[in-house]
Amino acid sequence: MRHLLNILDLTAEEIDRLIATADDIMEDPEKYGDACRGKILATLFFEPSTRTRLSFESAMLGLGGRVLGFSDSSSSSARKGESVADTIAVVSAYADIIAMRHPKEGAPLIAAEHTRVPIINGGDGGHWHPTQTLTDLLTIRHEKGRFEGLTVGLCGDLKFGRTVHSLIEAMSRYAGVRFVLISPQELALPALEKDRYIDAKGIPCRECRSLEEAMGELDILYMTRIQRERFASEEEYQRLKDSYILTPEKMALARGDMIVMHPLPRVNEIDPAVDEDPRACYFRQAYYGRYIRMALILKLLEESGKGKAVPDKGHPHFPENTLPGAVCQNPHCITTTEQGLPQRFLPAGPEGKGYRCLYCEAEYTP
Ligand code: NCD
Repeated sequence: MRHLLNILDLTAEEIDRLIATADDIMEDPEKYGDACRGKILATLFFEPSTRTRLSFESAMLGLGGRVLGFSDSSSSSARKGESVADTIAVVSAYADIIAMRHPKEGAPLIAAEHTRVPIINGGDGGHWHPTQTLTDLLTIRHEKGRFEGLTVGLCGDLKFGRTVHSLIEAMSRYAGVRFVLISPQELALPALEKDRYIDAKGIPCRECRSLEEAMGELDILYMTRIQRERFASEEEYQRLKDSYILTPEKMALARGDMIVMHPLPRVNEIDPAVDEDPRACYFRQAYYGRYIRMALILKLLEESGKGKAVPDKGHPHFPENTLPGAVCQNPHCITTTEQGLPQRFLPAGPEGKGYRCLYCEAEYTP
């Protein structure tokens, strides 16, 4: 069965087709008003959300379908200690497609193994956020007209920011892309992520500590929030929270055709005075999210209609464990909370140096 757990589950051609469908929906929404009549989307949000959950619900309602779910895990049986596997096994009997968000990294992979219906990952911890990336790609296509040859600056919390991880994975497939990574040392992009998606592909990349030194060379500035909820210590968060604040003065250093993106919510990292700048496109970006999710729901439902509704034990996301006896060391990994879940590890990189957890992808050091 077809799921969207990671943005790389979609080929670049499939992303182009989703963008074309989203454009078509934006042009003539009424044509799609009955496309999902009789279908049900479940939104299972074990972690807070405004845009992602509401845009999924609005997308399904716009397609003539219906929605059910929860927006707070304390109102679900997770509160009583129910596993993700059991919740999904049950909910997939009540819905035709599931969009979920979970604070633990790798949770959607467990869901994919126990569901009868397609799973869409609406964010798992600091790991992946593929539907935000689809939203970002639709935005870039509209605002810049292309993906190739762009210099993309990513600023803020590159360690815990899942939208950053998925966007880098997606953009690393297009020719001529360059990355500029702007973060404090403590919040730098995880080494494994940088090795696999940037260095191993020979993509030009520069790391810097200040916005000012990067502004002039960027086609896109992707601002992010410092992810308070993922810090081990509040003091550390307080020390780093205002590392970067984009102001009209800093915007004056950028090119006239640079765009500023942000997945939102913003906390303090973009001065509201920047909103009036035509290069600020984060609210347009939020608008696109509904339409690309409509296109995605249509695609996954259409493909699932062709298959058998049975749990997918043989999903390609689950190869054999290559490191028997090891235990994942990442405190945010789903293996720390899900009962009875086997540990699984894979070689970390193409050269086979080190290992990573199959669920959360954190590096494992024996
Ligand atoms: C992001 C998320 O949840 O990761 N928000 C979103 O989905 N639009 C970004 C964030 O929370 O900082």
